[in-house]
Amino acid sequence: MVGGAAAAAGSTHNERADYRPRLHYVPPTGFMNDPNGLVFFAGEYHLYYQYNPAASIMGNVHWGHAVSTDLLNWRTLPTTLAPTLAGLVFSGSAVVDHHNTSGFFSDGGGGIVAIYTRAAADLQTQEIAFSGDAGRTLTPYGHNPVIDRQSSQFRDPKVFWHAPDERWILVVVEARRHQVLFYGSADLKAWTLLGEFGHAGLLGVDYECPDLVCLPVEGGGERWVLIVSINPGAPLGGSAVQYFVGEFDGKTFVAEDAVTRLMDFGKDFYAFQTFANVRETIGIAWMSNWQYANDVPAWPSRGAMTLPRRLGLRRVRDDWRLVQRFPDLTPQVARTLVDGTRPSGSGVLLEQALTPGAALEIQLQVELPSAELFTLSFVNEAGEQLDVGMDAGPFGGLYIDHHRTRGFEQRYFVKRLSHASLPGTRTMDLHLILDRSSLELLGEQGAAAATALYFASAPFSLLRLVAGGGRALVPRLLIRHLRDIPSAAGG
Ligand code: FRU
Repeated sequence: MVGGAAAAAGSTHNERADYRPRLHYVPPTGFMNDPNGLVFFAGEYHLYYQYNPAASIMGNVHWGHAVSTDLLNWRTLPTTLAPTLAGLVFSGSAVVDHHNTSGFFSDGGGGIVAIYTRAAADLQTQEIAFSGDAGRTLTPYGHNPVIDRQSSQFRDPKVFWHAPDERWILVVVEARRHQVLFYGSADLKAWTLLGEFGHAGLLGVDYECPDLVCLPVEGGGERWVLIVSINPGAPLGGSAVQYFVGEFDGKTFVAEDAVTRLMDFGKDFYAFQTFANVRETIGIAWMSNWQYANDVPAWPSRGAMTLPRRLGLRRVRDDWRLVQRFPDLTPQVARTLVDGTRPSGSGVLLEQALTPGAALEIQLQVELPSAELFTLSFVNEAGEQLDVGMDAGPFGGLYIDHHRTRGFEQRYFVKRLSHASLPGTRTMDLHLILDRSSLELLGEQGAAAATALYFASAPFSLLRLVAGGGRALVPRLLIRHLRDIPSAAGG
């Protein structure tokens, strides 16, 4: 977000309750952006988030709060951190202070400590807050801020425990100078600057929401990955998440090549953050883009989160690819529509009726012995269509095309997205989650990812699998309807 003026562009008359996601977390009212304070504690996953409780446009920023035991079914809890005279509560993270290094937890046990940005018009500082009641309330520390550089663009702290050096590491950005800064601390209160990274990669106007994770490489070994959101100025416009692959020596991050890579080839994946206190690396992103986040139809709140994504890393020729996976959605299945059929041929291979509006999971493998194009087309009674396809041509690859949906138009709302595959690619695996108004797509065994909002004027009622220009076969096909999560019912 640049400045605070975005709120002025928004409106609340543009409401369509039938766009409200059914599988993705949304707050009951207000406006939500970045996931914050993602942490697992005492059997619960916590999702705090940038939240305006008073209106469905950006501004008046609090930390909203939801909890879940399975990362899918979220329960909204009372809003926690609130604006003060010192400013709004911008993005940040949370950790479990198991050994009471902070001294906040007098009984000697651990608890949650949140680290966030206090944002005034001309000053951004880092503050901490603690919770002795399993995250329900976050009490700001009495001697905040804990870091003040007299900077107006210094934000989005992400903290993790660095076991080799036995200290906390805080990763934060000097947004407009395009620097990622690394601080160290023994107690989460006194922080020392250890290193800097940048400027590097795509700069955009601001660096935002950094995260640093150590990922297993498929086939062995590990690498550190530095994740940096940029906004505005992404290749498709507005907001995007890039990452760098390299090493972290406990003080600073060094990229191992000069390549910038994007986490997602869609336009609606931003401010990705990973969970603290979990064994695998799992994170969530905000499913929108600052270029139109205040303008998309409200349901009546605005803003949704992606499904959780588990991260890994793969070496592909001379390149690195972040690998993303959806969680196993089997416990969420309401009805399996197709499993075990192997459609093949040319033209229309399959037509499947859908329960209009229900969330859908599709997993498939496709081979194109002679077809040039393979498409999954979702169609509705208004004659609108959303396509997910694979183009086997020399400039092809994966694509999403929802230009034949008419529910929302705006200058920056892009309806055609594509990802280049290696020329000659004739097999593809796809895993997609279609909810009302959002599509999440993974291909190339998780190495290609796209997240896209879409707005059709009626729900899709039919799925058509089509092979164009020759034969295609689908050796694996699984289509399942997924149950609504409780928050979709207004809870
Ligand atoms: C990213 C961001 C952060 C900031 C927050 C304000 O979307 O602009 O940099 O902390 O949103 O809501």
